Amino acid sequence: WFTSQPYPLESPNPTYSDEEYADVDWDSLGFGLMATDYMYITKCCEGQHFEEGQLSRYGNIKLSPAAGVLNYGQGLFEGTKAYRKENGRVLLFRPEQNAIRMKIGAERMCMASPSIEHFVHALKQTVLANKRWIPPPGKGSLYLRPLLLGTGPVLGLAPAPEYTFLIYASPVRNYFKEGSAPLNLHVEENFDRASRRGTGNVKTISNYAPVLMAQTTAKKRGFSDVLYLDSATKKNLEEVSSCNIFIAKGKCIATPATNGTILSGITRKSVIEIAGDLGYQVEERAVGVDELIEADEVFCTGTAVGVAPVGSITYQDKRMEYITGSGTICQELNDTISGIQTGTIQDKKGWIIEV
Ligand code: COI
Repeated sequence: WFTSQPYPLESPNPTYSDEEYADVDWDSLGFGLMATDYMYITKCCEGQHFEEGQLSRYGNIKLSPAAGVLNYGQGLFEGTKAYRKENGRVLLFRPEQNAIRMKIGAERMCMASPSIEHFVHALKQTVLANKRWIPPPGKGSLYLRPLLLGTGPVLGLAPAPEYTFLIYASPVRNYFKEGSAPLNLHVEENFDRASRRGTGNVKTISNYAPVLMAQTTAKKRGFSDVLYLDSATKKNLEEVSSCNIFIAKGKCIATPATNGTILSGITRKSVIEIAGDLGYQVEERAVGVDELIEADEVFCTGTAVGVAPVGSITYQDKRMEYITGSGTICQELNDTISGIQTGTIQDKKGWIIEV
């Protein structure tokens, strides 16, 4: 089944010492895929539980042409990051939240899913096996991409008879080509991202290809990405293709409530909590597109994106500009959450797991 030899779990990475780094130009990392050493993989039949899997050399997997994921999009993905501390320790940020989200998504998509403990254990194994690919402190992180796929063959529309849980990894830094510079968003009016009672709130792979057309068009026009409105009224903000959105005015921060169409981002949830602790009034509610006119700041949150400032939003040919840079709420939140994630700020919330 594997295209390469399975690798035993007991000795994850014998070839490389704990201190060794992969041969990477750490200063030029973006968000491109870099093949690392190992991936974690396990599979199970429909109606059964996932058994502990194994590490295998990173490489292609064989799939039936009739696999549920290929034919009917029965698949979920997650994203989380591992960070290297100055003292060499490796940290994961709230990985159980990814496990919970995958479990909820799997129920929605009629898929078997790994237990929370299994998911976190598998993440740790993947991180340890690829330790030399974790960037030095301050240079980025190791992005972990858990996948849950319907890999069994189906011809008629039905849940696949077999599922695969897989995790691969890639070192990353800035998601957008803008680096840490402010993003310029365009409000999308021709396409919707999600509909009421659809799957907008789960991380199914089938939510992502449909945004590519609007994104590509916007990028050609010089925008960083697009901001979606709710499909029912076109009056409220939803999210950006790959991340959640927040607006700020004075000491008040608002973000669209997760009403079933919006992905419940782990960075979103953490930023809401941190902002409350820092004394901001945080509201999860319908955020009108007209509120973009009065906002002082707008920012995006996501695992890949981090907490990213938005410099402008264009809606119906009107460009609105926002405060960015030092002294902003966005920067304060970004500094706080990334400090917790990288271990430079003490984690008082139990969010960090040492691998
Ligand atoms: C993440 O932020 O980890 C995501 O999964 C978004 C993806 C489009 C890169």
